[in-house]
Amino acid sequence: MRRKLACIAALLFLALATPAPAQKKVVDAEAHQWWQHAVFLEIYPRSFADSNNDGIGDINGITSKLDYLRWLGVDAIWLTPMYPSPQVDFGYDVSDYENVNPEYGTLKDMDCLIAESEQRNMRVILDFVINHTSDKHPWFIESASSRTNPKRDWYIWRDGKGPGNPPNNWGAVFGGPAWKYDPKTDQWYYHYFYPQQPDLNWRNPDVEKAMFDVTRWWYKRGVAGFRLDAVDALFEDPKLTDDPFIKDANGQLVEQHVYSDKLPEVHGVLQRLRRVADEYDAVLIGETWTSNVEELKQYYGANNSELQMPMDFMLTIVNKVSAPEFRKQIAMAESSGGWPVYVMSNHDIRRVYDRYGDGQHDDQIAKLIASLYLTLRGTPIMYYGEEIGMENNDPKRIEDVMDTIGRLNWPKDKGRDGERTPMQWTAGENAGFSAVKPWNPVDPRYKQYNVEVEKKDPNSILNYYRSLLKLRHTEAAFLDGNYVALNEDDANILAYVRSCKGQNILVVLNMSSSAQTFHLDLAAKGFSAKTFKTLLASAKAGEETRTDTISLEPFEAYIAELK
Ligand code: GLC
Ligand code: CA
Repeated sequence: MRRKLACIAALLFLALATPAPAQKKVVDAEAHQWWQHAVFLEIYPRSFADSNNDGIGDINGITSKLDYLRWLGVDAIWLTPMYPSPQVDFGYDVSDYENVNPEYGTLKDMDCLIAESEQRNMRVILDFVINHTSDKHPWFIESASSRTNPKRDWYIWRDGKGPGNPPNNWGAVFGGPAWKYDPKTDQWYYHYFYPQQPDLNWRNPDVEKAMFDVTRWWYKRGVAGFRLDAVDALFEDPKLTDDPFIKDANGQLVEQHVYSDKLPEVHGVLQRLRRVADEYDAVLIGETWTSNVEELKQYYGANNSELQMPMDFMLTIVNKVSAPEFRKQIAMAESSGGWPVYVMSNHDIRRVYDRYGDGQHDDQIAKLIASLYLTLRGTPIMYYGEEIGMENNDPKRIEDVMDTIGRLNWPKDKGRDGERTPMQWTAGENAGFSAVKPWNPVDPRYKQYNVEVEKKDPNSILNYYRSLLKLRHTEAAFLDGNYVALNEDDANILAYVRSCKGQNILVVLNMSSSAQTFHLDLAAKGFSAKTFKTLLASAKAGEETRTDTISLEPFEAYIAELK
């Protein structure tokens, strides 16, 4: 309650002290956009901090942790869906785009979060579930009510191919057919995901208008941009051509989403949505599952007219600590012509600690991966809790699974609960997330891996992240520098220089489990250095004395300025 009052007071103060938030255009002399220098952090609101002790994280919980995020070096937070929702897909089934799920709080709480963020020079990005709504959204309820309802065409309704047969062979990505029969109107509706997530018909201009207006509504409330959910799936072939199936490595037939994924019409919508965003200096981030750089290029659009930040998930496909693999992915992102967007994990992907850990050097590897993607040219998007070394805590029994796909595919796929566990704040009960049992169990390692304990330990993962983010914000080479690869064919070490106007910072990452001696020939790459100034080292603290050899401990990251 006291915090709530403080929040209201803060809002009042803001209203009196500052003129109406005219949209600020933040382009500095170097002509970079605000999001190019920002570090983003994805927050899963249900799991971040519970302010009212009902076991479920909420908006006021997030507001109460803004000082921590600022301390860490986060500039923008992206909240996964916090809108009213039946929670079949934990918020990715939205039943009202212009409100807040009562479990998470109120619109006032959102206003407060935005105002408090602005005070700290931080921005709030929302998740825009653009491909589909919940089947409980009033638009869908109307659409389903009769074939002649004015909203009928807001969704994709088709006749089946005879009794019991859907219109075509498309499957939903969460399993089963992509069509659900509605006996009342004797037609089928299309759903790329769960049946409770009917796809909007983006060929209908009224849908586009209504959805674009949603973004305006939030921009006016102070939201600084959107992460666009499932953009690949926005359009489907109007002729409903059957998709081809091919056998995978295990001989299983797998659908190739040729007619229901990445249709060219997506780009028209993105260009128009971008024009709206530009009016508010907002950023559009895309959940873009591209499989090659050509597809990625298309999402930036000609002359960068579409997404400023299409996420590059190709990096997340690297499933082992491997210098050649990461080098290849970086080169690819560098060749896209757009501003790279680096993501290592999220609420759909196993946590970094888990994916890359070898059981022996896990903390070192966590620091190594951070040193990689937080020192590259581009904008990183972190996932809450990676900065303290949170790992997946997967359900042990099917009865405990909350994510529907985990129940459908158990035990092959245990679902995504494991990467969505409560943030670990303290060594106290429920990791300081809540006074009561949280909705999703806390990872048992929380007594050691939590904010409070790690803040006090200078060698913790948390303090390492903080130092990295500090460098990112203060060193021109990290903010604006080129990426120059140093060793194209080293199997163990990934090394590069970030270079900007005479400042050159060397990053050397030992991606092997053994100690390494790295011989470097800076002159061959056009750099000269008499000495190194160590900026950060994840294992040793000492200054390197020679500029042609660096010794590294297993999985060590070494960052130094060339002098
Ligand atoms: C995106 C979200 C995922 C959700 C799906 C359907 O992939 O990241 O969590 O289940 O869209 O909305
Ligand atoms: Ca709560």
